[in-house]
Amino acid sequence: MGTYAITGAASGMGKESAARLRAGGHTVIGVDLHDAEIVADLSTAEGRAGAAARVLESSEGRLDGAVLAAGLGPAPGREAIISQVNFFGTTELLTAWRPALAAAAAEADAPTSKVVVFASNSATTTPGIPGTLVSAFLGNRPERLRRSLAVFGKNAPAFAYGGSKLALSRWVRRQAVTAQWAGAGIRLNAIAPGAVLTPLLQSQLDGEGHGQIEAFPIPTGGYGRPEQIAEWVTFMLSPAAEFLCGSIIYVDGGTDAYFRGDDWPAAMSFLALPRWLRLSRAWARRAG
Ligand code: NAI
Repeated sequence: MGTYAITGAASGMGKESAARLRAGGHTVIGVDLHDAEIVADLSTAEGRAGAAARVLESSEGRLDGAVLAAGLGPAPGREAIISQVNFFGTTELLTAWRPALAAAAAEADAPTSKVVVFASNSATTTPGIPGTLVSAFLGNRPERLRRSLAVFGKNAPAFAYGGSKLALSRWVRRQAVTAQWAGAGIRLNAIAPGAVLTPLLQSQLDGEGHGQIEAFPIPTGGYGRPEQIAEWVTFMLSPAAEFLCGSIIYVDGGTDAYFRGDDWPAAMSFLALPRWLRLSRAWARRAG
């Protein structure tokens, strides 16, 4: 049986994922603002550092997996805190936990360790997320992040949300394939849910923007249920996911496909050939 760290373990999809792992006999170290083994505020750098350290202490420096589900939905005036929790609350914790994940994977006969990050289909269904916003997240440039969001005025929280999840998806894909992650036996992937009926979505349905959410296209009809997503999360933590690496799994009732049917898979541009050759040669050198 394994040891798993789960952020956002007190509610919604994180809670449901924790319950499934516990029911399977695993040890879960939950991190949340309340009702968790480790109570911490991931909106501050100190809170994140403290949470990361306490999980390492509780797990004795060895993690079979992690689920990063803590997150905040768009709400008026919350763009700064959304950015902190959704993006840095995931990347900083995972950076701190990487050695513990590698330690579990390095044990004799151990399977790979596995990480599931909560992205969102908002990353690809929010029109007009600027590249400067995404690069401000990825480059950890707080002033540029603040300026990139300020131009959106009252819509800033929606862009902080979609932008944080797009940057998170990129971060996952960039890191997952490296020697430090894939090469160290850690499978890093993300799940991108659509509208799932949790307290987060309910608070949006109870708020001013409910009309927009109710009108959002979901081809399957209805909202997703947290148990459905938790089933995917546990699958992505299981041996079935041994060959899954850097994938963003959309489980969204078809919303992304509805808006962007032809956008992905997309052929690699001919202009990408020099980069393709460079990466292929780098890989051959590494393999040799
Ligand atoms: P939820 O609101 O039920 O659970 C989120 C948890 O994160 C809560 O327990 C909350 O206390 C915790 N959290 C928030 N701020 C925190 C902080 N500063 N420090 C520590 N913990 C904090 O939400 P839900 O819906 O289960 O969301 C889980 C993840 O899925 C989030 O990352 C969310 O962005 C993402 N997601 C949710 C969708 C939905 O429709 N519900 C759709 C797509 C993605």
